[in-house]
Amino acid sequence: MFFLRTFTCSSIYLLHRMKSAMSIGLWYPNEPLIYSIILLVSMGIGVMVFIMLFFVKAGYGRHMDGHWGPKMNTHLGWFIMELPTIVIMLLCFGLSDKKTSITHYAFLMIWFIHYAHRVFIYPFRIKNGKKITLTIVAMGFFFNLVNVYIQGRWLFTLSDAIYADDLLFNFSNADYTTIAWLYTPQFIIGTIIFAVGYFINKQSDYILRNLRKPGEENTYKIPTGGLYRLLSCPNYLGEILEWVGWAFLTWSIAGMYFAIWTVANLLPRAISHHKWYKKTFEDYPENRKAIIPFLL
Ligand SMILES: NC(=O)c1ccc[n+]([C@@H]2O[C@H](COP(=O)([O-])OP(=O)(O)OC[C@H]3O[C@@H](n4cnc5c(N)ncnc54)[C@H](OP(=O)(O)O)[C@@H]3O)[C@@H](O)[C@H]2O)c1
Repeated sequence: MFFLRTFTCSSIYLLHRMKSAMSIGLWYPNEPLIYSIILLVSMGIGVMVFIMLFFVKAGYGRHMDGHWGPKMNTHLGWFIMELPTIVIMLLCFGLSDKKTSITHYAFLMIWFIHYAHRVFIYPFRIKNGKKITLTIVAMGFFFNLVNVYIQGRWLFTLSDAIYADDLLFNFSNADYTTIAWLYTPQFIIGTIIFAVGYFINKQSDYILRNLRKPGEENTYKIPTGGLYRLLSCPNYLGEILEWVGWAFLTWSIAGMYFAIWTVANLLPRAISHHKWYKKTFEDYPENRKAIIPFLL
């Protein structure tokens, strides 16, 4: 009994200490410097991944072969992979002093418009007979963890002027501390690009999802309608537009980092999908490009 009471009291005390230490600003000593290094290294990895993905296809969906190790349930895999985007973003917000800032609520809302769907709806609507590999889930989980840390810590803490000199380089001159940020051209243009991207992404994923009728979980068909009139992968174009919009509306290197990683992940995959469609379907429409209308 004594042991239990001591354990409970010390846990509460420790949690309280952790919360008050974290909520006043930095999560650990030298965080702005380490944050800058994480961003730089991860940006370098993003460029390498971009080049690599022209030679190695990420092993999920139609490009899955036997080399990616053990597998798990696809719905659960997607859910686990995307979950950090919600949990860590809420932590970054909850442990900050921005809980009365309208501009920061706007960022949070835009982030959640995408990720609430990606975490709680998309994984459970996938119509797929295949399993997903643990390697892909682990890689996606780790990418999301680093990315949400970079976005969340920037938006809710490290963008504060007091940390500007501790960062390795100037991440942005944007001032999010007043509502005036919401009227800037960067925010307005970025939000429009994000909204257009969101619509294209959701519409295109919806079209794909409805290609498979019950019992056809492993078959592929030629998608039609929407931007599929012009492209093989409009869902990827939409996703890229969303994060390019985010880079604009946050006007930050953190936002740019996400846009670059999205291009690195999805552009080579769109080209692989496009080649696969042309090889698989003899009657595949000649005029379709991979991801950029009339160009690529
Ligand atoms: N931000 C990022 O870096 C990032 C990275 C990856 C994905 N995403 C997003 O996550 C979502 C899913 O990505 P994904 O790579 O899985 O997209 P995808 O390859 O286009 O597949 C999406 C879903 O549609 C099915 N499908 C695709 N083409 C089909 C066809 N011709 N006939 C019937 N079913 C078809 C797929 O089944 P199969 O699985 O059986 O092929 C899968 O369930 C997209 O919105 C994408 O933008 C974002």
